Order: sequence, then structure tokens, then C-alpha cells
Amino acid sequence: MIQDNTKEKWTREGRILITGAGQRVGLHCLRRLLEQGEQVAMTYHTERPVINELREQGVICLQADLSSPDSVEQLATRIRDEVGPLRALIHNASAWLPDREENTDYASVMQDMMQIHMMAPYLLNMRCRELLLQGRLPWSDIIHITDYVVEKGSDNHIAYAASKAGMANMSRSFAKRFSPEIKVNTIAPSLLMFNEGDSEEYRQKTLKKSVMGVEPGPDVVYQALCFLMDNAYMTGREINLDGGRHIR
Ligand SMILES: NC(=O)c1ccc[n+]([C@@H]2O[C@H](COP(=O)([O-])OP(=O)(O)OC[C@H]3O[C@@H](n4cnc5c(N)ncnc54)[C@H](OP(=O)(O)O)[C@@H]3O)[C@@H](O)[C@H]2O)c1
Repeated sequence: MIQDNTKEKWTREGRILITGAGQRVGLHCLRRLLEQGEQVAMTYHTERPVINELREQGVICLQADLSSPDSVEQLATRIRDEVGPLRALIHNASAWLPDREENTDYASVMQDMMQIHMMAPYLLNMRCRELLLQGRLPWSDIIHITDYVVEKGSDNHIAYAASKAGMANMSRSFAKRFSPEIKVNTIAPSLLMFNEGDSEEYRQKTLKKSVMGVEPGPDVVYQALCFLMDNAYMTGREINLDGGRHIR
């Protein structure tokens, strides 16, 4: 018998939680979900005026440092106590630490990258399973945001690329472990938004890496999130948002 996936029959039980949503891509996606009437929650690291604005709009905002297992465990407890049932858990928080210079403290770069991109999502997925089961309609979602460099590697960000590759692999394992109630997928973007200080030369060089040659902005991630959360039959997979970098 064909499963009934009619969206109109769903009821909203749980919140969509995005980690690291105090700025840029995460903040944009959070605001777009709010516009659509979704119940949302977020974690942030740095205090900014926008956090109070979000709280006034009904967003549950949890200050969290993801840089140690203990602090992630504390966050998991706060999610259970202050957020409750989850419709989706979106792992967006990230740091892009370089490791090219000879005087780099390589051990701490690798440790930090593994902590934020692997340890934090691993612990949160384990600890939030019950909340995701409570918030499903009829399924719930875990979405990991990785990076195009998982496919190609990176000579300037070796530890970053490796830790995002670990996250991508973990995504498939969690898809097996949590199926069928919780779908687990990955979004792998290349350039989404430049950083403020990026030079014109760097911008031009980066734009030329994809066949589409544009800075797409954060809405492409929002579109992918919606697709994944709406779709009834995709798990353990990846959406590539890279403007065709692989065919350049
Ligand atoms: N932007 C791009 O072009 C691009 C390209 C490829 C992949 N991606 C991926 O897409 C996602 C969003 O990109 P983005 O540029 O919007 O990311 P971002 O601003 O660099 O980072 C997202 C958030 O992660 C939080 N964070 C960093 N270290 C943390 C820590 N120790 N504890 C808790 N939170 C921490 C920061 O929080 P605070 O600001 O509150 O300190 C930051 O706002 C990331 O996963 C990124 O790897 C982005």
C-alpha cells in the first residue's frame, strides 16, 4: 500500500533547531522558517543585538559554546528542558580554521575542528533522539551542513575538510541507526557568501571555480532544508549546492 505523505494532514509538534544561527546562513534560514510560521529554536555563541529581537519573536535562543564535550552535554540538557520535542535538528555551527602557516598549532586546530564538526553533532544526535521521536510528523529530520571540500580536500584547510568529511560519514551512520522515524541527510555547499574582509582578487578567483560563477547567498540552503524536511523518501544522502564546481 502506498504511504500517505499528504502534507496538509501534518500537525506541528516540535521545533526546528539550528545550531550557530546568530549570523549569516543560519540566521537567514531561521528567519525564513519564522516567516513560514514554523516554531524555531537556535544556539549562538557570541551575544549580538539580534538575539533579543529573535527572543521577542518567540524563538528559543540558547547560548552555547560547542568547544568541549562537557559544554555540548550541557547544551543537550538545556535543549531537553527548554526546547522540548524537535521537528528537526540542523547542524550549521562551524569554524573555518586554516592550517597552512608553519607556526600553526596543528594539534589544537585539528582538535577544534573535530570537536565542532564531529563531536558536537555526534553527542547532540545521540542525546536528542527522544526529542526527535516526540516531534516527528510523521518523520523528523537531522541535517548536517558539510562542505564541497569533503569531495576534493583542501590544501589550506586540511583539518577543516577532514572534520567535515567525518561529519558526512556520520550522517550516513545516523541515517541507518535512526531510520525510519528520523531521516538524516547532508547539505554540502561550496561558496555561499563571502566574508566581509575577502579581497576582490580572492572573490574573483573563487567565483571562477564553479561553472555558474555566482555568490548564491544563503537562501539556497533554506531551499534545500525545506526540500529535505518535506520529502518522505530521502535519507543517508547529500544535496550538493556548488554551482557545478565538479564539472568545471
Ligand atoms: N559561507 C560559505 O560560503 C560556506 C561555504 C561552504 C560551507 N559552508 C557551511 O555552511 C554553514 C554556514 O556557513 P556560515 O558562513 O554562515 O558559517 P559561520 O558564520 O562561519 O559559522 C556559523 C556559526 O558557528 C558558530 N560557532 C563557531 N564556533 C563555535 C563554537 N565553538 N561554539 C558554538 N558556536 C560556534 C558561530 O557562532 P557565533 O557567531 O554566535 O559566534 C557562527 O555564527 C557552515 O556549516 C559552513 O561550514 C559555508
